[in-house]
Amino acid sequence: MNIITFDSDAKLNEAAANIIVGQIQTIPRAVLGLATGGTPVGIYKEIVRDYERGMVSFRNVTTFNLDEYVNLPIDHPESYHSYMNANLFSHIDLPESQRHIPDGNAADLEAECRRYDEAIELSGQIDLQLLGLGHNGHIGFNEPAHALIKGTHIVELAEKTREANARFFDSIDDVPKQALTMGVGTILKAKKILLVVKGADKADIIREALQGPITTDVPASLLQTHPNLIVLLDSAAAGKLA
Ligand code: F6R
Repeated sequence: MNIITFDSDAKLNEAAANIIVGQIQTIPRAVLGLATGGTPVGIYKEIVRDYERGMVSFRNVTTFNLDEYVNLPIDHPESYHSYMNANLFSHIDLPESQRHIPDGNAADLEAECRRYDEAIELSGQIDLQLLGLGHNGHIGFNEPAHALIKGTHIVELAEKTREANARFFDSIDDVPKQALTMGVGTILKAKKILLVVKGADKADIIREALQGPITTDVPASLLQTHPNLIVLLDSAAAGKLA
């Protein structure tokens, strides 16, 4: 595990973008696993800047997002489809057919989960998986539980997750109760994982995740078993590491 701490948000975003852009420069046909939420917004801005400078092309890249809410219309401003279009996809040359996000409005959600896993399988392995961290230790929407699920599945969002994401909606009542998420088995199969964590409010959970016992109560603690994990932290998030 390689942990790097930054004293500014700008430097952290730049470092994360460099890793992702560098991956595509090395392997133009790279398969990327992508995250949403507050953490990657500045990283995507940097990536778009690199694209506009002609440093990278996404023509041959394939992407798989971690998750999507269930029953939130795709064109809702807070759907992860809208988020990805607004923050990344509409600014780069990634062909639409090579972008994948689970369909939380599918008539048969179980079938959609199987279809998503098959698409990931068909693309080969995820070369680089970008992850944020939930306050309860979730990665993707794999919430703390007595057992974790390998593949894509339907998940009941934890109250803590709905509370954290209420800032993006008018009220907590508007935050969907369910999501589709890639499973931890798929996440851990990625060749390289880039975990990015920002803010003093994540200092306790990042310590538990990286330096506590490996337990399904803190899904991110499973990342300790990954052979190629890079962790980028701001100094506030790193504040409680031993
Ligand atoms: C997003 C995702 C989540 C977030 C996590 C942190 O696709 O899967 O695990 O990465 O909830 O969210 P932020 O960055 O908003 O603190």
